Formats: sequence, C-alpha cells, structure tokens
Amino acid sequence: MTNLQVFPKDTPRGEVIGAMRGFTAALGVRCDHCHVDEADGPGVQDDKASDAKQPKRVAREMMKMTMKINADLLGALPERHDPKVEVSCVTCHHGLPVPETLATRLRATLTASGIDSTMKLYRELRKDGLRGRYDFGENALNDLARGLAAESKTADALALLALNREFNPASPMIPMIEAEIRYSAGETDAAIEILRKIVAADPKNGRAARRLKEWESATQKKE
Ligand code: HEC
Ligand code: HEC
Repeated sequence: MTNLQVFPKDTPRGEVIGAMRGFTAALGVRCDHCHVDEADGPGVQDDKASDAKQPKRVAREMMKMTMKINADLLGALPERHDPKVEVSCVTCHHGLPVPETLATRLRATLTASGIDSTMKLYRELRKDGLRGRYDFGENALNDLARGLAAESKTADALALLALNREFNPASPMIPMIEAEIRYSAGETDAAIEILRKIVAADPKNGRAARRLKEWESATQKKE
C-alpha cells in the first residue's frame, strides 16, 4: 500500500481491508464509491491508491474527525460510560452515503419536486425500509406535517397525515395533529368533529377533552 495518510504507513493489509469493509457497510456503498477500480467500467485499472474520487478525499477527513471526537471530545467527558461508548462511521451514516433523517430527505424532495413525489418516495423507502437506514416511526411525517402547517401549507400537511394514518391506523397522535391543523386553518367544525371522535373512543384522553372544551366554548362565544 502506497498512499496511506491517516492509517500508519505500516498498517497490515488485513487491518486496512477490515476497516474498508466497515466503511462500505456503514455508508451502504461499494469500494468503487471511493476508489477507482474495475467496477467503474471496462478497461479501468484497479488503483486503490489513487485519490481521484471526492468521497475518498472526504473519507480521510471523516477518519480524522471520528478519531478526534473519540480521543479529544469524548475522551474529555467526565463521568463516562464504562465500558466507554465510541463514535464510528455508522453512528452518523446509518447505511447512507450522506447522513440524513427521513424528515430531512422528505423535506428536500418536497421543496424540489412537490407533494406527489414526496408521498411516492415515502412509499418506496418504506418498502425498502427494513435495513435501518431511516426511522419509520410515525414522528417523521407528524413533524413534517406540523412544519408545513406552520408555513400555511395546509393541503400538503393534511396529505402527509393521511399517508401516515394509512401506516399507523391506531395512532391517537395523528388525528390530534389533524384537528389542530384544521382548527388553525379555520376549519373549526371539522376540527371539533375529529376531537369528539377521539374523546368518544378514549374518554381518558385528558388533553383531547380539554382542547375540545376550549374549542367548543370559543365557537359558542363567536355565535
Ligand atoms: C468511504 C470511502 C471508502 C470506501 C467505501 C472504501 N475505501 Fe478504501 N480507502 C479509503 C481511504 C480514505 C483510504 C486512505 C486511508 C489513509 O489515507 O490512511 C483508503 C485506502 C485503501 C487502500 C490502500 C491503498 C493504498 O495503496 O494506499 C486499499 C487497498 C483499500 N482502501 C481498499 C478498499 C476496498 C477493498 C474497499 C471495499 C471493500 C474499500 N477500500 C472501500 C476510503 C474508502
Ligand atoms: C459525527 C457524524 C459523522 C461521523 C462519525 C462520520 N461522518 Fe461522514 N459525514 C457526516 C456528515 C454530516 C457529512 C456531510 C458533510 C457535508 O458535506 O455537508 C458526511 C459526509 C461523508 C462523506 C462524503 C459524502 C459525499 O458524497 O459527499 C463520506 C465519504 C463520509 N462522510 C465518510 C465517512 C466515514 C468513512 C466515516 C468513518 C470513518 C464517517 N464518514 C464518519 C457525518 C459523519
């Protein structure tokens, strides 16, 4: 090996290759994501020492960053876990070439391509979703819907909630958020109707019951 700059130059080959397998798993990529090799096309010579590809150059900085986090920052932590817990590539990357959450990915798609593409992407990711890359709990779409509602994008927010309900039909949070969004958008009757259903199904839901009282008395005052 001729171009080790972060690993000590005399690192045994097996150790370097072991670390490389760790990189590919952590980022969900193959060797050719970072290295010039045969997978780049017919006639391409394997050249693992080459720094031609941007991800390899960034990966070196990432190796240094990860070492610094573990040695300097976590190393200085008082009252640390025993045995100590360290950061590695997968801690941030979770099987993705660039770390992102489901919410940031969906948000970027929404901005670039609109609600239909976003809903389609969510379904596709979910189908492929058993690999731990994204958290498919109900919070991602709920938070995104709240954010959109705050920007007065009510229709998009409600579309995302409907999608979320499809996969989480028993969630008490989703109808609650829908009611709040509709209420803020002036759809008072629809909002109260949803809350009545929530309270009827679960009379112990104190938050929903209080909110229902508030909204009912607010509308009576108006009338
Ligand atoms: C995320 C990017 C990344 C991936 C994926 C990756 N590598 Fe690397 N590889 C590097 C970096 C960065 C170095 C240089 C490390 C250094 O400077 O100490 C390196 C160095 C090497 C070297 C030493 C080259 C030399 O002569 O200096 C070999 C061999 C190697 N990788 C093989 C592999 C193999 C095989 C795979 C697939 C299993 C792989 N790598 C996947 C980033 C990557
Ligand atoms: C503390 C979190 C964290 C850790 C640990 C981490 N990364 Fe990253 N990585 C990031 C972030 C954030 C970015 C995106 C930075 C940007 O370009 O804005 C990134 C970007 C990258 C990229 C560039 C992707 C591209 O296509 O531009 C590579 C390659 C990469 N990381 C490899 C690694 C490797 C290999 C490790 C382990 C040695 C590692 N990372 C550890 C957070 C992390």
